[in-house]
Amino acid sequence: MRLLVTGGAGFIGANFVHYTRSAHPEHSITVLDALTYAGNEASLATVRNDIEFVHGSVADAALVDELVGRCDVVVHFAAESHNDNSLRDPSPFLETNIIGTYTLLEAVRKHGVRLHHISTDEVYGDLELDDPKKFTPQTPYNPSSPYSSTKAGSDLLVRAWVRSFGIHATISNCSNNYGPYQHVEKFIPRQITNVLAGLRPKLYGTGENVRDWIHVDDHNSAVHAILDRGRNGETYLIGADGEKNNLEVLSLILELLGQPKDAFDHVTDRVGHDLRYAIDATKLRDELGWTPKYTDFRDGLEATIDWYRENESWWKPLKDQVEAKYAAQGQ
Ligand code: NAD
Ligand code: DAU
Repeated sequence: MRLLVTGGAGFIGANFVHYTRSAHPEHSITVLDALTYAGNEASLATVRNDIEFVHGSVADAALVDELVGRCDVVVHFAAESHNDNSLRDPSPFLETNIIGTYTLLEAVRKHGVRLHHISTDEVYGDLELDDPKKFTPQTPYNPSSPYSSTKAGSDLLVRAWVRSFGIHATISNCSNNYGPYQHVEKFIPRQITNVLAGLRPKLYGTGENVRDWIHVDDHNSAVHAILDRGRNGETYLIGADGEKNNLEVLSLILELLGQPKDAFDHVTDRVGHDLRYAIDATKLRDELGWTPKYTDFRDGLEATIDWYRENESWWKPLKDQVEAKYAAQGQ
């Protein structure tokens, strides 16, 4: 298969390229990435000679038309992905997440190419801490932030193009990923690199908010299961039963880095902060036979910490600017 991977220089997209190169070397890969602040060609350095890299935007209709016209499947990771940024300035989220997805949809419609759209559990809004229910493909959409509402909008565009124009597409909605190459603006890498840089970790509010953590390689093995065996027009939820509150995660990071339990600051909470996400991945497991490999969060987190320790040259140049932005908001 000839894969067009959008957003392949970002966190999950770059890991997808590495995963695909080693697990499915029979596929050829073209990456389309705009190299925004979140994209980093260095994340692809070790596979650079095995793939084609195109620097450009998913909202560039002429470029997208040309690239889609010479691939078999588009795997669409490209997005503005950070909630806190969307609260500061929503406009790039509209451009990339809505217009970019629309641009790809028109190209796959024209060329009869399959699309797999990567999305998030945040489209469902949040759950109460004691709610026994988890998100399922039947949960109504109820996004909270500019980021999650643009992802919800992009999912609905994909569904409409399937129904109205008969395009061949699948959607996956995944929970919070962790692993190597994640930008230092995100929770886990921010706290790890704070400790490594001699700064105190920062916890929003009380730390009771729950996220359903999954290792990025498990997300990507699920994407491959959907590419191989997913049914046209279907939505699959991806999660690995990894619910933990933020204080628990931070405490584990501190322990693994040999820091005292209380060596962090409570900072201003995120506005509209979603309380809890939780995925019911029964459909993915039963229908496609997918199972996660990284079932021990402590082991996965330890490996992630090692990666940031060993790859300071990858994250150090990003760190000061990110911390300056947070500091300006008391975070
Ligand atoms: P990221 O911010 O690390 O990477 C995004 C990539 O997209 C970057 O390389 C960036 O340069 C590129 N990009 C941005 N705008 C572009 C444009 N207009 N044209 C082409 N490329 C552009 O994001 P991520 O965390 O890797 O997330 C990837 C996808 O997975 C997103 O669609 C996100 O909504 C989804 N997702 C993320 C998580 C998570 O926990 N990180 C969980 C579920 C779903
Ligand atoms: O659920 C999937 C989503 O997970 C993806 O769609 C998003 O792209 C991805 O960024 C992530 O969104 P979150 O907002 O959950 O992730 P973030 O890493 O920003 O924050 C995780 C939790 O940690 C959240 O409750 C906010 C909190 N937090 C975050 C930062 C950056 C802190 O307590 N301190 C921090 O410094």
